[in-house]
Amino acid sequence: MLRVEKVSHTFKNGSETTSVLHDINFAVKQGEMVALLGSSGSGKSTMLNLMAGLMKPTEGHIFIADHDLVKMSENKLSVFRRKHIGFIFQAYELITSLTVRENVELPLVFQSVAPSIRKQKAMALLENVGIPDKADLFPSQLSGGQQQRVSIARSLITEPSVIFADEPTGNLDSKTEKEIIGILLNLNKKMKTTFIVVTHDQEVAEQMQRIFTLRDGYMITKKQTPAEPESEGGEVHAD
Ligand SMILES: Nc1ncnc2c1ncn2[C@@H]1O[C@H](COP(=O)(O)OP(=O)(O)OP(=O)(O)O)[C@@H](O)[C@H]1O
Ligand SMILES: [Mg+2]
Repeated sequence: MLRVEKVSHTFKNGSETTSVLHDINFAVKQGEMVALLGSSGSGKSTMLNLMAGLMKPTEGHIFIADHDLVKMSENKLSVFRRKHIGFIFQAYELITSLTVRENVELPLVFQSVAPSIRKQKAMALLENVGIPDKADLFPSQLSGGQQQRVSIARSLITEPSVIFADEPTGNLDSKTEKEIIGILLNLNKKMKTTFIVVTHDQEVAEQMQRIFTLRDGYMITKKQTPAEPESEGGEVHAD
C-alpha cells in the first residue's frame, strides 16, 4: 500500500546543500504497523514528510495505494492528503479554542460532512481512545496523554489509508507512553489502519510488526520483530 523507491533527498539553502536521505527503498503492506527508528538527525522526520506528500524528494518515487505522490500537482496532492493520510504529531497540535469533540470533527468540517454525522463519528472515536467523558472540555483542561488521545481520534476520523505518527509519545512519561502505544496497537488491530510510527526509542519500535532503521540517512535494517514471523525471512517486498 506504501512503496518508497530509490528515494534520496538533499536540502538546498542558498549555496549550502545537505544530503539527508540516500537511496531509500522499502514497502509497507495494508494494515501493517511499522516503526521508523533512528537517532536524532538520522532523517526520520524528513522521510515521514516525504511519505506524507508534504515535500517532494530530490530523487525517487513514493507510492500510496499505487498513486505516485511525486507526480501529483500540489492541488491534487492536498486533496489526496486530506482523503488518504492521517497525522499524529509529538506536540498534539490541537486547536485550543475548540472543544475536544470539535477538534476531532475538524477534518470532516473541511469535507462538508453534516454536523450530526460528524458528532456521531467523533464520539465513537473518543470512546475508542477512552475519553468520551472529555468531549466538551478544551485541550488545556486535559493531560498530555489525554491530548494525544484526542489527536489520535482526529487522525482517524477521515478513515485514512495510512497514518503517520512523528514521535507520538515524545512528550510523555513512560507510563503514558505505554498507554498511547497500546491504544495505537489496538486501533491498528481493530480498524486495520496502516500506521508508520517514527521513534528514536528501541523499546517502542519493538512493539511494532516491523522496524525500519535509519542511520545518517541510510536505511540499515528492514526487519520484523520475532513476534511476527514472516515466510520471506525479513526481506521487504513491494505489495
Ligand atoms: N529544511 C532543512 N534544511 C536543511 N537541513 C535540514 C532541513 N530539515 C532537516 N534538515 C537536516 O536533515 C537532517 C535530518 O533531519 P530530520 O528532522 O529528518 O531528523 P530526525 O531523524 O527526525 O531527528 P529528530 O529525532 O531530532 O527529530 C538533519 O541533519 C537536519 O539538520
Ligand atoms: Mg524528527
